[in-house]
Amino acid sequence: MAETWVNTPGSSRRLPHRTPAPPGDAPPAAGTHAAGTDAAAPRDEAPGREAGAPREAAVGQDLHLELTGTGSLRTQIMDALRDAIRSGRLAPGTRLPPYRGLARDLGIARNTVAGAYAELVEEGWLSARQGSGTRVARRATPSRAEPARRPQGPSRRRIAHDLLPSSPDAAAFPRAAWLTSARRAMAAAPNDAFGVGDPRGRAELRGTLAEYLARARGVRTAPDRIVICSGFAHGLRLLARVLDGRVAVESYGLDYHRALLHEAGLTTVPLPVDAGGARVDELPGTRARAALLTPAHQFPTGGPLHPGRRAAVIDWARSHGGLLVEDDYDGEFRYDRQPVGAVQGLDPDRVVYVGSISKSLSPALRLGWMVLPGRLVDEVLAAKGPREIWSSVLDQLTLADFIACGAYDQHLRRMRRHYRRRRDVLVGTLAERAPHIRVGGIAAGLHAVLELPDGTEDAALRAARRQGLALDGLGPYRHPDSTMPRREGLVIGYGTPPDHAFSAALDALCLALPEPPQGDARAMPRIRREPAAG
Ligand SMILES: Cc1ncc(COP(=O)(O)O)c(C=O)c1O
Repeated sequence: MAETWVNTPGSSRRLPHRTPAPPGDAPPAAGTHAAGTDAAAPRDEAPGREAGAPREAAVGQDLHLELTGTGSLRTQIMDALRDAIRSGRLAPGTRLPPYRGLARDLGIARNTVAGAYAELVEEGWLSARQGSGTRVARRATPSRAEPARRPQGPSRRRIAHDLLPSSPDAAAFPRAAWLTSARRAMAAAPNDAFGVGDPRGRAELRGTLAEYLARARGVRTAPDRIVICSGFAHGLRLLARVLDGRVAVESYGLDYHRALLHEAGLTTVPLPVDAGGARVDELPGTRARAALLTPAHQFPTGGPLHPGRRAAVIDWARSHGGLLVEDDYDGEFRYDRQPVGAVQGLDPDRVVYVGSISKSLSPALRLGWMVLPGRLVDEVLAAKGPREIWSSVLDQLTLADFIACGAYDQHLRRMRRHYRRRRDVLVGTLAERAPHIRVGGIAAGLHAVLELPDGTEDAALRAARRQGLALDGLGPYRHPDSTMPRREGLVIGYGTPPDHAFSAALDALCLALPEPPQGDARAMPRIRREPAAG
């Protein structure tokens, strides 16, 4: 039983066609309907329809016919059907409702609909066969000029491999261990855990973090100097409200972190970046009162901040009343040696240390922490507000248990091995198949930078899109006011693809890379060693 929907303004009525399409439901031959048939139609207007209100009917399940044009009703039906066919909404072969039923639903004369169907059959838009009703003709394909609407932009191309530097391997999330901690945390949670949350964060988590960060990252703190946040971005948003004036940032960095600072009315001043990280010797000239850096693994270019510069940034902070905001987003993942401790350990009163589980566990949980100089704790809490409205207390308790029981360390050790293997496969594949490409930033983290010859980044990104790769070039990370020489390259996040798809992702990547320059017969790979800059 076919069904037609009829919508009248302000209401929607469902009118089932109780009679199956009769064998003779194809419209009478066109010749039997001369122009002007409508005039002879028994009833042209449905009783009860408001004058001027559009007539609407839906064909099948979701095709809507709306007669709002000008001209006779027959012309309007024909226009509406042609439009639906042209746009692809009515696909070739689609069966139209019997003309009697459509006429009834639209509240118009049967002859009017039959005449419109018959004329469209003549024009070739519809086909009518005894016994199978009226259908959209097979050859009535949508017009090229009006293709069916598709989503615009790069998303139209299927993304086969995600090499963006944003996520860890989601398949490696330690579900079982997290669940065990969640159960334990839930069972042990005192009643007050189910009330309004403390904006400082749960004491259980702050206590556990103080111990863990001291042990694993060399952070010097106490639980009352820690404020829980929903990740680095949230921490920066809060800090932006307590800072003022100018903030020095790395010439290459995340634009949305810069945007967060700008939104708060701050100005960002770019510091050049080289193989030893940010050129902190330029800090005094910036007149900035704060500096946002990624010392463990410069994002995205990849070098750790040189030891001399770690000391120099603290000297600057002491002599200029400055503050370092240390973004320790992937500090646990160091492959050539033990992770370098946080700069915060050098002077806890001059550094705000911000960490999160976005790289180590998952960016979906939205959990992070700020370790603050004592004088900033109240100001940051005032910026956060009187209640915890960001981070779930149960997730906080779960994380506290997860760290305290050793599951976090175990997970990190496992992931360090996992990402190190990935990194080695990436480097090995490029050495073999694209030895003319230099690879940087490989000693730590979940991403590397493939350095490209000048003028080739855009073409490589286009080639990557054609290969179904989602990846970034260095261009968008560059501060618009930076005066340092422009670097071209691809930022390759090797953490995200699932294991089974990793080698296919690398195959696609190799196909997207520029060819070696003419005459470059280099046999040996040039894999960039980590810096010894000062
Ligand atoms: C440079 C940098 N900082 C911080 C983070 C973490 O941000 P969030 O904790 O807001 O997810 C990321 C991404 O994980 C990052 O790439």
